[in-house]
Amino acid sequence: MSSPKDFNDRMLSLGLARVSEAAAHASARLIGRGDEKAADQAAVNAMREQLNLLDIRGVVVIGEGERDEAPMLYIGEEVGSGDGPEVDIALDPLEGTTLTAKDMPNALTVIAMAPRGTLLHAPDVYMDKLAIGPGYPVDVVSLDMSPSERVRALARARGCKDSDITVCVLERPRHEDLVAEIRSTGAAIRLITDGDVAGVIHCAEAELTGIDMYMGSGGAPEGVLAASALKCMGGQMWGRLLFRNDDERGRAAKAGISDLDRIYSRDELVTADVIFAATGVTNGSIVAGVKREPHYLQTETILMRSKTGSVRRMIYRNPIR
Ligand code: FBP
Repeated sequence: MSSPKDFNDRMLSLGLARVSEAAAHASARLIGRGDEKAADQAAVNAMREQLNLLDIRGVVVIGEGERDEAPMLYIGEEVGSGDGPEVDIALDPLEGTTLTAKDMPNALTVIAMAPRGTLLHAPDVYMDKLAIGPGYPVDVVSLDMSPSERVRALARARGCKDSDITVCVLERPRHEDLVAEIRSTGAAIRLITDGDVAGVIHCAEAELTGIDMYMGSGGAPEGVLAASALKCMGGQMWGRLLFRNDDERGRAAKAGISDLDRIYSRDELVTADVIFAATGVTNGSIVAGVKREPHYLQTETILMRSKTGSVRRMIYRNPIR
């Protein structure tokens, strides 16, 4: 028989969907208003309020930043009613603040929950990321390979030409060489301006999104969230933390990380069963954005559990009062 202290992912997952829905509702009125901060703050406030209604003893391990940088949902903040299982929470109340401010595709509210001590406490630094969808042999590509070797290896495994592979990459000056090398193989590139959690998730549904592989550096916290999603949907992912200075190395030490060159596999980023919810803020290829009608708001949420591999898409419609 299960006890209230067990990680009852089946029941908790529905609560998690409410949390991400509330954040999307709150940021809806700020879509396209050019104010990243206000949109993020609205999502943070709503997410926190809803999280505190859940019967959990939660600690934010991936959040809005350090306690002194973030007034709410900071790393180490305790959330939940204080009753129920001890859990780790990883969240990004608004993944794609600029996408929201500019009304561009694929802004999401994102949250993952897992038993205490099972999500990597990734410091707020960059992470070199590599992801592919399900159905490939284990370690068919790796972060130690060059970008062109990865394209070739994946094409061989898929039984297609290099030029049939599409790689998703964040459009950044730091990725110029990466993009040039991928192009030299003949592979196509889907450049995204922001939102690499969605970028990685795209690999899990390659037949729908057309994306076979994700490569490049982005936020390490977003890496843990993306690994949570892939653990539910299937697919492989690796991440290596990148440090630009001593301050960033210090952040790793504070998070208890001593091997700075370590490559983390998906199951080392997220070591136990996890639940994941994301709600669309702007329209995207994973979920639709918030629909604003005169009298109601409608959201779409993807809710997943790694234990069962179940993926739910939930439409929520709520009157505007
Ligand atoms: P925000 O929502 O915090 O703006 O993050 C968007 C994002 O594109 C992430 O998806 C990505 O991991 C990170 O920023 C990349 O960072 P940078 O913009 O510094 O390249």
